[in-house]
Amino acid sequence: MRTRCDRTAAWPLLQSRFDSAGKAFDLRDAFATDPQRFASFSQQAPHVFADLSKSLIDAATETLLFDLAVQCQLEQHRDAMFAGELVNSSENRAAMHFLLRKPVVAASNTAASPSNQENQAQSAAKNIAHELTQVHATLDAMLAYAEKIRADDAITDIINIGIGGSDLGPQMVVLALAEFAAQAKQVKRFHFVSNVDGQELASVLAQCKPASTLFLIASKTFSTTETMTNAHSAKQWFEAQGGEGVGRHFVALTSNVKAANQFGITTSFGFWDWVGGRYSIWSAIGLPIALAVGGKCFRELLAGAHAMDEHFRTAPMVQNLPVRLGLLDVWYCNFHGFGSRNIAPYSSALRRLPAYLQQLEMESNGKRVDASGQTLPFQTSPVLWGEPGTNGQHAYFQMLHQGTTVVPVEFVAIKRQAHTLPGHQQKLLANVLAQAQALMLGQNDVGGHKHFPGNRPSTFLLLDELTPASLGALIALQEHRVFVSGAIWGINSFDQWGVELGKVLAKDIEPRLQNGDLSGLDSSTAGLLRRLR
Ligand code: F6P
Repeated sequence: MRTRCDRTAAWPLLQSRFDSAGKAFDLRDAFATDPQRFASFSQQAPHVFADLSKSLIDAATETLLFDLAVQCQLEQHRDAMFAGELVNSSENRAAMHFLLRKPVVAASNTAASPSNQENQAQSAAKNIAHELTQVHATLDAMLAYAEKIRADDAITDIINIGIGGSDLGPQMVVLALAEFAAQAKQVKRFHFVSNVDGQELASVLAQCKPASTLFLIASKTFSTTETMTNAHSAKQWFEAQGGEGVGRHFVALTSNVKAANQFGITTSFGFWDWVGGRYSIWSAIGLPIALAVGGKCFRELLAGAHAMDEHFRTAPMVQNLPVRLGLLDVWYCNFHGFGSRNIAPYSSALRRLPAYLQQLEMESNGKRVDASGQTLPFQTSPVLWGEPGTNGQHAYFQMLHQGTTVVPVEFVAIKRQAHTLPGHQQKLLANVLAQAQALMLGQNDVGGHKHFPGNRPSTFLLLDELTPASLGALIALQEHRVFVSGAIWGINSFDQWGVELGKVLAKDIEPRLQNGDLSGLDSSTAGLLRRLR
């Protein structure tokens, strides 16, 4: 049983700390009085360097946050996840996405006569070892298939049909690793169709021919309305256009292989109920990535994530980057009362990162009850939003600098770019540094309009290069930081009941749009429905 943050001894101490020093904390004074501040609040984690020194935090506060983590049994909860325990309690499931990126290890010798506890640990380990064998068998098969299609010049277009976790991750990574995809013998075109708005599918189909198109139907459940509607329309289009061999041109990425077979699909790559949708990029859902960049790069993506898993699993809290980021999120959310976080990747290749992180953070931690179902008396998930830099600077950065609301910004920068156009990279890096600096320093102006209050916090994540490995590490870092804040809040970060009600109501409304039945509807829904008919 975990202890919820507000029931720990550290929680009121953090409140006192906030009242006495946190509220009035000023970054400019903090840097002036501590020449070591950058060194103390920055660190190297696998593939990711992080500068947290422009955060509204000092050593005493961070120490209290570590105490909070200890009192919430964060490390035990983390170990429970890595041991395959049923940490997704409302769905009675484990959350073992880390297993998808774990290399196979040789079985170790077991003790001659183990105790009861050792017995349990051994059987959990055996279970994990069994799942790992399945993971690698599927991975090998999927990567072999990916190589076959990559070598097949007849296939020019790949259409991924999926939504949420079955779309955002693969799409984000395929865009991010475009430079690696460009090295393929034949560069294929990738399309991602998620919206049930037929406009999206129609415009993609208009660019494709059945004989040269491969459809990936990506759905963990193989029942999501949007995906199934698009999949059926795609199949109808394929057949109506004279396409032959649904079995060759449609592939399912799903944990519901039976439903995929009923759809007429004969090639499926499966995954397990312990892989949540928003954590599924490393599973068969990652097939578009493997098709784009090849098996070697896909394995590097997994290896980068695994390196971050090991960091999270083993590094002491004071040097554990997901822990430090997750605790900072709690400090901002529950003491400063900051309601959102801006994601600013200074890389056009990472332009879909904010959308990806929105699902990861808000579907995981947008909860109002704790894991036992009790209403929480404090705020949880921040709103995540963002655009790539420098574009955001010419849109909403005005508000970040001079608005009445403080929004912590997370900058993501890449030291070396793949392109060779002169001058661009220096300008890009100068801008990201300048924005972080301007937010912190501010500017005095008695006239008012040109006054920047400053003392606005940011974190800075830096990758040497955007490679499959560094991207894998960056994503796993974000997964684990979300786990950390969720663990402190005492919530189940692995379910998503909040998406269900709208699905049920849409099912009720859909036939009414046909038959005009308004009975039992509130007057607003009824009025709008009448207009929409
Ligand atoms: O409705 C939310 C959700 O279940 C997400 O968690 C998931 O990523 C998405 O829908 C897609 O689900 P599926 O892969 O089963 O189609």
